[in-house]
Amino acid sequence: MPKPLRTPPSAGEKPLATRDKLRKSLLSWYDRHGRTLPWREPGPRPDPYKIWLSEIMLQQTGVVVVVPYFLRFVERWPGVQALAGAERDAVLAAWAGLGYYSRARNLHTTAQMLAERGFPENERDWRELPGVGAYTAAAIAAIAYGRAANVVDGNIERVMARLHAVEAALPAAKAELRELAGKLATPTRPGDWAQALMDLGATVCTPRSPKCSLCPWSRDCAAFRSGAPEGYPRRAAKPARPERYGAAFRVERDGMFWLVRRPERGLLGGMAGLPTTPWRARKWSRREAIEQAPGPGDWRRLGQVRHVFTHFALTLDVYRANAGPEQGGWWGDASALPSVFRKAAAL
Ligand code: ADE
Repeated sequence: MPKPLRTPPSAGEKPLATRDKLRKSLLSWYDRHGRTLPWREPGPRPDPYKIWLSEIMLQQTGVVVVVPYFLRFVERWPGVQALAGAERDAVLAAWAGLGYYSRARNLHTTAQMLAERGFPENERDWRELPGVGAYTAAAIAAIAYGRAANVVDGNIERVMARLHAVEAALPAAKAELRELAGKLATPTRPGDWAQALMDLGATVCTPRSPKCSLCPWSRDCAAFRSGAPEGYPRRAAKPARPERYGAAFRVERDGMFWLVRRPERGLLGGMAGLPTTPWRARKWSRREAIEQAPGPGDWRRLGQVRHVFTHFALTLDVYRANAGPEQGGWWGDASALPSVFRKAAAL
């Protein structure tokens, strides 16, 4: 039997000519349909401060939520020197509502390092900085410095899983999807390439009801051909999110709340919050909860709030008293509180 003239592409990988066509069609789609976002400034050299700041905010939060926070940050702290010189509490308060508060603490620490040493230009050196993981380092190197990098976020995983109809389920399929993304990535316009894929994933190749009729890649997309593109990426069944219970204590004076600072380590670390009981798997009786209140008082139960964190869902009984605890206090308004406490304050 004659030998094939060239090695066939491995399963899922597109032939060279197809890859070239896919690259061109996506970049030209991006030139016409890429989103206008405030950290994407026209001109040859993006501002690395803005790219770093936006990528940290975008780590676990969607574009629509991030945009107003980003605009407020750059207005208040237009460059890294200003952010490095800010009070930590001011940075945490400006971050309130964005979630994943270790990001804000790392952001401030990293700003101080960058203000002193300057901004690194390559992916490896970015990786050394607090709060900068593999994805963020690759994104900054590509977008701010035009370095070739394999940028892979959840959107890009989904696009790759569909383009190649990858049957392996997430999260086990991550390495395969990353490799497929790396084979397709182009060294021409690496920042635009990464952001084109993100935009395709966010606006066309969406998790539900993908708009395949608008997709520049539909003719080459194996999931589209299958007739059920939504079914990709395949996912392993998720374990149920555990439930946690607690009580929060609300003492209000002239629109200000009696607040405590949460421990530096752990969930909502370093943030201001209402005093609470510990959060546990068993419900709290009224008597048990009030034993944990920050002071004696005529504690009345106002109702409940529920907040879903990444790793558990929390139901908080909210108690209110008119007389405040005598000591301590850090009184503040609710605007600088994490969302779970804003809900409790608004009850
Ligand atoms: N998500 C993460 N980084 C992004 C970027 N630069 N543009 C759009 N979405 C993103």
